[in-house]
Amino acid sequence: MDSFELNKIAGAVLGALLLAMGTGFLAELIYKPKPAGDRGYALPAAEETAGAAAPEAAKEEPLPVRLASADATKGQAAAKKCMACHSFEKGGPNKVGPDLYGVVGRPKGSHEGFNYSAAMKAKGGDWTYDDLDHFIHAPKQYVSGTIMAFAGVPSGAERADILAYLRTLSDKPVDFPKP
Ligand code: HEC
Repeated sequence: MDSFELNKIAGAVLGALLLAMGTGFLAELIYKPKPAGDRGYALPAAEETAGAAAPEAAKEEPLPVRLASADATKGQAAAKKCMACHSFEKGGPNKVGPDLYGVVGRPKGSHEGFNYSAAMKAKGGDWTYDDLDHFIHAPKQYVSGTIMAFAGVPSGAERADILAYLRTLSDKPVDFPKP
C-alpha cells in the first residue's frame, strides 16, 4: 500500500465523519425544538404538584375505613394462601401453623397444643384487628423471629377482606374499630 492509497483511505474516513456530523447538525437544525419562552415556566410547577400527589394516592386508607368496605367472602377466597399452613374450623387441627378459628381477640401465641416461636410467645397482648393487619402485612417485621414463613399480603384492601373473614370465625365476633 503506498502513501497515496493511504491518503485516499484517510480521506474517505474523514469524509464519512464529516457527512455524519453534517447530517446530525442539519437534523438538529430541523428538529430541535425552540427553547421555551415565558409560558414554559408554568410547567415545572405543575409537575411538582403532580409528583407530590402521586405518593399520597398510593397511601393506604386507615384500617377502620378499609374494614368498613371489606368483604368476608372475598377474604375467604384470599385466605386460600393461608390454608397450606392453617385450618380455620372450630376445633380444627394445628398444622404448620395454629388453627385460626377465633383468633381475633385471642391472646397471641395461645392456641392449645401449638408450639409457637419464642418471639410469638413473648409478643404479648390479644390479637386486635390492627395487630393482625400489621402481622399479615409483614409477619417478620411485626414479630421479628416468627416461624411463620410467609411473605405477607401487600394489598391493604385484601388484608381487610381477610380480617373480615377471620371475624366470622368466632362464637362472639369482635366489632370492627369505628372509622
Ligand atoms: C408457610 C406456612 C404459613 C402460611 C402460608 C401462613 N402462616 Fe400464619 N402462621 C404460621 C406459623 C408457623 C405460625 C406460628 C408463628 C410463631 O409461632 O412465630 C403462624 C401464626 C399465625 C398467626 C398467629 C396465631 C396465634 O395463635 O397467635 C396468625 C394470626 C396467622 N398466622 C395468620 C395467617 C394468615 C391470615 C395467613 C394467610 C394470609 C397465614 N397466617 C399464612 C405459618 C403460616
